[in-house]
Amino acid sequence: MNIALHVKERLGLRRVVLGIAGSIAAYKAAEIVRMLRECDAEVRVVMTPAATAFIAPLTLQALSNNPVQSDLLDPHSEQAMGHIELARWADVVLIAPASADFIARLAIGRSNDLLAAVCLVTQAPIVLAPAMNQSMWSHPATQKNCSVLQQRGMLLSGPAIGDQACGEYGPGRLIEVEAIMEATAQLFATRLLTNKRVVITAGPTREYIDAVRYLSNRSSGKMGFALAAAAVDAGANTLLIAGPVDVPSPARVTRLNVESAREMEALCMQQAPQCDIFISVAAVADYMPDKKSAHKIKKSDAQMTLTLVRTPDILAQVAALPQPPFTVGFAAETENLEKNARQKIADKKLNMIAVNSVNNDEIGFASDDNEVTLLWHGGQEFMPRTSKSQLARLMIERIAQHYGTE
Ligand code: PMT
Repeated sequence: MNIALHVKERLGLRRVVLGIAGSIAAYKAAEIVRMLRECDAEVRVVMTPAATAFIAPLTLQALSNNPVQSDLLDPHSEQAMGHIELARWADVVLIAPASADFIARLAIGRSNDLLAAVCLVTQAPIVLAPAMNQSMWSHPATQKNCSVLQQRGMLLSGPAIGDQACGEYGPGRLIEVEAIMEATAQLFATRLLTNKRVVITAGPTREYIDAVRYLSNRSSGKMGFALAAAAVDAGANTLLIAGPVDVPSPARVTRLNVESAREMEALCMQQAPQCDIFISVAAVADYMPDKKSAHKIKKSDAQMTLTLVRTPDILAQVAALPQPPFTVGFAAETENLEKNARQKIADKKLNMIAVNSVNNDEIGFASDDNEVTLLWHGGQEFMPRTSKSQLARLMIERIAQHYGTE
């Protein structure tokens, strides 16, 4: 089966919890796992106990390349990745097939198995692909449950109408796997920034001492690249100005590479006047050597003294343009996070800033997750720890909302 390019791009590197409930259509989940993996999504399968009667967990484990979990009270699985962790890890929870019973349990907020508990905890969007007998689907109780879940923001994909495993004909078949993939991918295309031009800086800079040595920092580029992917998914024309990093470029993003703060400054000052939104995620060095030796400096004395001078403050310069874009900074702090971030908003004349702690190895520099407080004039919002891609999606939503009102 061919997967459409836009589906691959939207699902690439996403973290998907695939929930499988007890239905004869459970065997089709194997194909869903395979397609998600082909999109480069990371998949963790959670099965209800009933689902394990329809398809062997081992099959899904082999296809997803991750252990399959089904027991809420299993201390081993909870140790590996407990239900809270799993729920927070997910960028999306896709339940395919979703049985009538599982939909009913979700509607009343039960948490009597692992999958239901994950659904109750997660902040990620939930997609349901129902599959059941046509009378069960048409029953007013199921219809009511589905509308309750839709009102809560869950997305229904299907069901399809057709021949059923029980020999009947009608609505209730699991919709085609391609349609489920399309609906899930669609979640990552918000169109909030259609026709807007966004410039994002990411990664570290390198400030050369001599031909082979430089000063730099641990920024991996992951946060900035995730924001660029989310901006593109929101419909923005996105330019990424990246320091030296080892992260693949998001699809449909124009990327320009730089090394030093001065190179980044030159490109930003050329590009920022034409953009609507400027997001400065790069960990730009604050100091650079006053001169770079053209040759490798020979070791001689026991000590060596370097004179460092300030680098240009790129973000402040962009915000000081005669007609500045909506300007968003990041603040990497180890203490007094909000106070220091508010000071940066004022000093650099920003519209918004995202402050993250760089004390903790699990968030901030080089990690897959992050946690930020987004601050603007007169308000702030805490965004708890989640994957950088999920966080980026949320941040782009907020940035789009504030951009529209300022
Ligand atoms: O790349 P990752 O590994 O994913 O890590 C992400 C991150 C931790 C680097 C990122 O989330 C982050 O915090 N980026 C900002 C790092 C930083 O330089 O913070 P700062 O508080 O020193 O700078 C404040 C702001 O001014 C930042 O938006 C920075 O881009 C900008 N700045 C700083 C110095 C300078 N000379 N020019 C600038 O534009």
